[in-house]
Amino acid sequence: MKRIVSLLLAAVMVFALSACGGGKTNAPAANEKKISTVAEGKLTVATSPDFAPYEFYAVDESGTPHIAGFDMALAQYIADDMGLELEIVPMDFDGVLMSLQTKSVDIGLAGLSADPKRENIMDFSQLYYKGGQSFVTVKGNEAKFPDLASLNQSGISVGAQTGSIQVDLAQQYSADTDIIQLAKVTEIIAELLAGKLDGAYIETAVAQSYSKNYPELAIVVDVPYTESEGSAVGVSKGNAELLAAVNAAIGKALSDGSMDRFVAEANELATGEIIEGLLD
Ligand code: ARG
Repeated sequence: MKRIVSLLLAAVMVFALSACGGGKTNAPAANEKKISTVAEGKLTVATSPDFAPYEFYAVDESGTPHIAGFDMALAQYIADDMGLELEIVPMDFDGVLMSLQTKSVDIGLAGLSADPKRENIMDFSQLYYKGGQSFVTVKGNEAKFPDLASLNQSGISVGAQTGSIQVDLAQQYSADTDIIQLAKVTEIIAELLAGKLDGAYIETAVAQSYSKNYPELAIVVDVPYTESEGSAVGVSKGNAELLAAVNAAIGKALSDGSMDRFVAEANELATGEIIEGLLD
């Protein structure tokens, strides 16, 4: 009841404010008041920085690792657009899903596929990036995996990140293999390079990015995934104002050229000398 009253009050205030402003300026200030976040004045964002060029640890000139990537640039853009301070909380990918479910963060930016199975634990923004899925192995093993059907061979081991849609893909296309779930994509890459996995399901942009740093990797098969053809921001469920603000900011980032720039910058940074791909 209390909440309903304060919501009503907020609505009245916003209406009054926009009435005073004549609809001309200061609309963002009115909007900010309406949006509740887990920490006042902050946008708390969960991410899983094992996923170049989306999010990864880059090492700056002083040798200090920091989280970079186009998801992080978009997170900053959204926070700025909402007039909030950005707070990034790094964790494993299954933790991102959990934090959204328990509403301990406002949003998740982690190359999240808008998988309909997740709709009961989070809301999804519009898609901000489109990308496909791949099966990856190492050079020398390409001939073993000529097509989609060849991904299902008994006796091989296939990696996928815990909690990700890649686990679903592995179950769908590699049902007879030994499916190994690992918490981080960077662990999957390390296991592939060490010859402990025969192959892995990885987002295409991510596979391409890591294969520039680790040329032993080979992207062999395009894997169909029809549930979502891209990434969305995961938004704490039921916070309509937050969802609307996130969608508005994404719309701007897509139309003003910012998103294209974020992707280009992240791709460049992820393939430069300074990437510490397997950090964390
Ligand atoms: N797109 C996949 C999913 O939503 C994988 C995302 C993994 N993200 C990450 N930052 N490791 O399940």
